[in-house]
Amino acid sequence: MPARNQKQWMADPNLQRGEWVDSRIYSDPEIFEEELEKIFKKTWIPVCHESELSEPYDFRTTTIAREPVIVARGPDNTVRAFLNVCPHRGMMIERRPAGSFLEGQPSGNPKRMTCMFHAWQFDMKGNCVYISREKEGYQDRLCKENTGLRRLRCEVAMGGFVWVCLDDKPECSLEEWAGKPFDCIRESIDAEPLEVFHYHKAIINTNYKLWHDTNSEFYHDFMHYHNRVTGFNDEYFARKNIGFEHGHVNVTSFEVNYDEYEGFESREELSFPKFPPNQWFMIDLFPGMNFNLRGSALRCDIMTPLGPNKVMIEFRGLGVKADTPEERQTRIEHHNSIWGPFGRNLHEDLIGVTGQGATMNDGSEPRRILHGRHEDNYIHDEVGLRHYYDEWGKWMDRLPSDPMQKYTAPAVAAE
Ligand code: FES
Ligand SMILES: [Fe+2]
Repeated sequence: MPARNQKQWMADPNLQRGEWVDSRIYSDPEIFEEELEKIFKKTWIPVCHESELSEPYDFRTTTIAREPVIVARGPDNTVRAFLNVCPHRGMMIERRPAGSFLEGQPSGNPKRMTCMFHAWQFDMKGNCVYISREKEGYQDRLCKENTGLRRLRCEVAMGGFVWVCLDDKPECSLEEWAGKPFDCIRESIDAEPLEVFHYHKAIINTNYKLWHDTNSEFYHDFMHYHNRVTGFNDEYFARKNIGFEHGHVNVTSFEVNYDEYEGFESREELSFPKFPPNQWFMIDLFPGMNFNLRGSALRCDIMTPLGPNKVMIEFRGLGVKADTPEERQTRIEHHNSIWGPFGRNLHEDLIGVTGQGATMNDGSEPRRILHGRHEDNYIHDEVGLRHYYDEWGKWMDRLPSDPMQKYTAPAVAAE
């Protein structure tokens, strides 16, 4: 068929509904705002790993759906989450990305979260413990006891990640939400404490769902030279996409032949506990968090959508905490040679999704993004994407292939 004219180009593809999406779901500002409300404020979000706040009084700050969040470890070793917002006049209480409350700050007492604006103080449970000139100003009308922080649901689970949900009544527990997709690696990541050894972040011009997609589908391994030479054998093509409730997907494992890539070596020696040598599992959680266990290193991508065409992705690499310095060094090399900012894989994915972002700005004509490959759920089947977008449609009550219409189940089942 020759190249198409405008009418042909805009016509629906010869696929079933559910096998493509309309690009306005990546670029429409109204849809983006709705996603923050209907999805990101309602679901469990991993915000960091517990090893990043390993001591009592350690904290980290972040945002979920633009809401400032602080997670802090108490003297009882429990990690708790709060809105990072002062109940007095709404100032952000802690402005550092991470640190410790153990020592006093110029405008803060030791072991307290202190709002520097008017010096109100809070303990690690979020109780207000000091209001400056309390009696003088409020007499008996307002007191410490009823001005605590906004507590958020928070759990440490699945290898020690810290999960937060802005909704007091989430649709289901964290275990019900993410337990099953994690089962394939759970024994390995829960066997002993893990530790973050690598962190970097990227802010790129693309929609967060497109980053989810490149993590979830493997058809684009044609772009990854490393994956082609170390994979692309019968075992690789026998990997399956498995769909789970709530839009999650994982991809079954196979043995990666690292030796096939010049300068690389087997990861066997430092395999995660109870993990067969050189295996590679991938877990993609709705609405877009990703966990990859490749032999000796665990990678986690946490996404913070910043706009329809802008996302911050935080990349973490993890190993077992008990590593010797030599083991840790090797583990870092294994991780970074593939997934570090100058590794063999990550930048290629970033080029892919920013290329998509470049064609899908607000006001770009709607494009059809095809998810129609069927290969009995094997590795290059786009079933994971169909599964994900069907879930997205339900949460949003919008049809992914025509987002101005209400959701209806696709003609072809997602799985
Ligand atoms: S805004 Fe925090 S003490 Fe006033
Ligand atoms: Fe990729």
